[in-house]
Amino acid sequence: DEGLSRDLYQLMEASANYFQQQLRHHPNQQQVNAYVEKRGLSKEIVEQFSIGYAPDGWDNLMRTLGQHADAQEKLLAGGMLIANEQGRRYDRFRDRLMFPIRDRRGRVVAFGGRVLGDGTPKYLNSPETPIFHKGHELYGLYELRQRHRDPQRVMIVEGYMDVVALAQFGIDYAVASLGTSTTSEQFQMLLRSAKEVVCCYDGDNAGKEAAWRAMETALPLMKPGDNVRFMFLAQGEDPDSMVRQIGKAQFEVLIDQALTINELLFNELTKQHGSDKASLAKHGITLIEKIQDEVLQNMMLEELATRVQMNNAEHM
Ligand code: CTP
Ligand code: MN
Ligand code: MN
Ligand code: MN
Ligand code: MN
Repeated sequence: DEGLSRDLYQLMEASANYFQQQLRHHPNQQQVNAYVEKRGLSKEIVEQFSIGYAPDGWDNLMRTLGQHADAQEKLLAGGMLIANEQGRRYDRFRDRLMFPIRDRRGRVVAFGGRVLGDGTPKYLNSPETPIFHKGHELYGLYELRQRHRDPQRVMIVEGYMDVVALAQFGIDYAVASLGTSTTSEQFQMLLRSAKEVVCCYDGDNAGKEAAWRAMETALPLMKPGDNVRFMFLAQGEDPDSMVRQIGKAQFEVLIDQALTINELLFNELTKQHGSDKASLAKHGITLIEKIQDEVLQNMMLEELATRVQMNNAEHM
């Protein structure tokens, strides 16, 4: 209900403030700062994304914000506390670098927490709560809209670190889906935000599969004039590692070389089916049938026909 949600938003904001304050003043500050420095995050970017620190220990947040039974219930409902089988409650996020996730209106609705080093899980995220449905949010979209009222281009990446690192290097129009593949709803938000959407997943097999799934998700939503493109990074790289290596200008060269959705679709089909025109046409039609917009669908079918004929000629 509305009252509960209002209280949850308040507690999430208070939690974010608490974590930010801990980042500045905690006794373990040196170790946290060493990690922040190791990741190359500037003071400004830490501020801009309200990054904080959840101290080690079972009940730091609970003692700070959950003194009253009522508030404690709400911290639990907001996913900030966990209750074990005996009913004991404790902080979900401990000894982690904290990334607040804001909704479109800037309200903190969830957190992603990264372990300071090699522990597992590497990222711990808020569970689904009355105010957080992860398929509906994009990390960094609020921050992006603060900088650009009407962005030309948005980039979609996998990770919090990718968004933050890109922004620090001046590529300040990236957002991340939240640990799952990009949903249809997220694509709708992206296409509403800008005319050009660039997908840039990690340079590994999972990233390649994510790109293909993203294409299938985007097709039904596309209208003529929408420009959805795909970047493929070198093996083992992600946007964070890449931009630090090559800098803004070179990274933007890679963006300019990104494949259009048509190029990705037809390249991949040709790779998969080679000279087997019949199966290329069949698989192509299956994909193109997903397009809802009739004009665009016809354009793609014509391109498919041309490609099949080209193949034909090549193999005569
Ligand atoms: N993720 C997650 N849980 C994990 C691993 C990943 O929720 N155990 C999500 C996070 O949102 C993460 C994204 O998937 O940001 C991408 O995963 P990965 O590429 O492994 O993370 P990076 O952002 O590259 O992490 P880092 O650079 O900090 O190692
Ligand atoms: Mn990865
Ligand atoms: Mn990374
Ligand atoms: Mn990554
Ligand atoms: Mn096939």
